[in-house]
Amino acid sequence: MVEAKKLFIKTYGCQMNVYDSERMVEAMGAEGYVTTETVEDADMVLLNTCHIREKASEKLYSDLGRLRAFKEAKPEMKIGVAGCVAQAEGDEIMRRMPLVDLVVGPQSYHRLPEMNRRLLAGGKAIDTEFPAEDKFDHLPERKALRGPSAFLTVQEGCDKFCAFCVVPYTRGAEVSRPADRLLAEARGLVEKGVKEITLLGQNVNAYHGAGAASDGGGDWGLARLVRALARIDGLERIRYTTSHPNDMEDDLIAAHGDEPKLMPYLHLPVQSGSDRILKAMNRKHGRDAYFRMIERVRAARPDILLSSDFIVGFPGETDADFADTLDLIRAVGFGQSYSFKYSARPGTPAAEKPGVEAGVADARLQAVQALLLEQQRAIQAGMVGREVAVLYEKAGRMAGQMVGKSDHLHAVHVTDAAGKPGDLVRVRIVESGPNSLGGQRV
Ligand code: 5AD
Ligand code: SF4
Repeated sequence: MVEAKKLFIKTYGCQMNVYDSERMVEAMGAEGYVTTETVEDADMVLLNTCHIREKASEKLYSDLGRLRAFKEAKPEMKIGVAGCVAQAEGDEIMRRMPLVDLVVGPQSYHRLPEMNRRLLAGGKAIDTEFPAEDKFDHLPERKALRGPSAFLTVQEGCDKFCAFCVVPYTRGAEVSRPADRLLAEARGLVEKGVKEITLLGQNVNAYHGAGAASDGGGDWGLARLVRALARIDGLERIRYTTSHPNDMEDDLIAAHGDEPKLMPYLHLPVQSGSDRILKAMNRKHGRDAYFRMIERVRAARPDILLSSDFIVGFPGETDADFADTLDLIRAVGFGQSYSFKYSARPGTPAAEKPGVEAGVADARLQAVQALLLEQQRAIQAGMVGREVAVLYEKAGRMAGQMVGKSDHLHAVHVTDAAGKPGDLVRVRIVESGPNSLGGQRV
């Protein structure tokens, strides 16, 4: 038997990259590649990159530096760069980094097998097109998955052009996949044991795809898609991320109230609490509109857990603007959030303007993270004594323990000697630790 070729893949950045990496592994699987956890063993190393902040981009270059020694020791090892840095800086990477054999953008990775054949014939390959064909039509079917929880990309790209963000350039314009394909992919996942699907999109709630033919076709928003998915037997939980406040349509808010499979969790990035900064960011909504949206979502689903992204140190952000951000956070109460120091990205409108002093931005980041952590802990502590549903993902580190996620996406460690991944069980929460809850099966 010929020994399988080995692929080492490293994923940076967001959940969509995690999904893309899985699909790249499947595409290379059709070429006889299996994954390996060690670079030394690899015939091909693929770095699936993120361009969102400078730090994320720089990781690619430091990892490429480290790979040089491996490639010298094993010259036949192929090195590929995929993802958003490939899209944004592909030509430059090829020019400046002779060790890189392949560059493939996020919209053309279905061509990886054919590109790899070119490498094996001794050439190099670069493809950062936005091809006319849909990559999903050319990828192999989904394989057996790692756990009961899976991602499903339903929408890609962004037309919003926030002044700080590279996504509209790296991922292109908003494109939604047709509902029939998504329902088929979801059914396939459920047949393979998946119980929870997280719908992914850079602007997932801007989803507007061709409706399922069996349901009369037409144009479907995210709520229609969620409701159709909810009818799949065996699929227990539906989540979606990440959303824009301006795309929270009425029927999606309603679905949070009346669709039990739609989980009570909403990631709704606001970025700043200052009207002045929101305007400068080109977010196209103010703080009051955000408050009103949160009120409506909470009216539909009072126990919903809210999460957001925040950027501090955006060009022109004053102490008063930052105080508005802290005030918004106090007013809303977030269960979990991400916060970042503004990073000037080449090609974006905000990059033309001077940022705030580094020391000031650092101090603001610390302050915002301290407040967000305080809220997160308080909300977690409030779960103690409550009974929640937990979907087990894997065995815990201690014997007789399982780890899974609650409806509110809290990580929960459960004492349960008989539990196995994929079980959806009732759990009484007995303690709240720094990053997870502890409970007992009831
Ligand atoms: N600098 C800092 N954070 C950024 N984000 C996007 N672009 C930048 C940038 N230039 C953050 C936003 C977004 C999240 C995915 O990353 O908060 O919601
Ligand atoms: Fe970037 Fe704004 Fe689009 Fe989100 S909505 S991907 S932050 S441009």
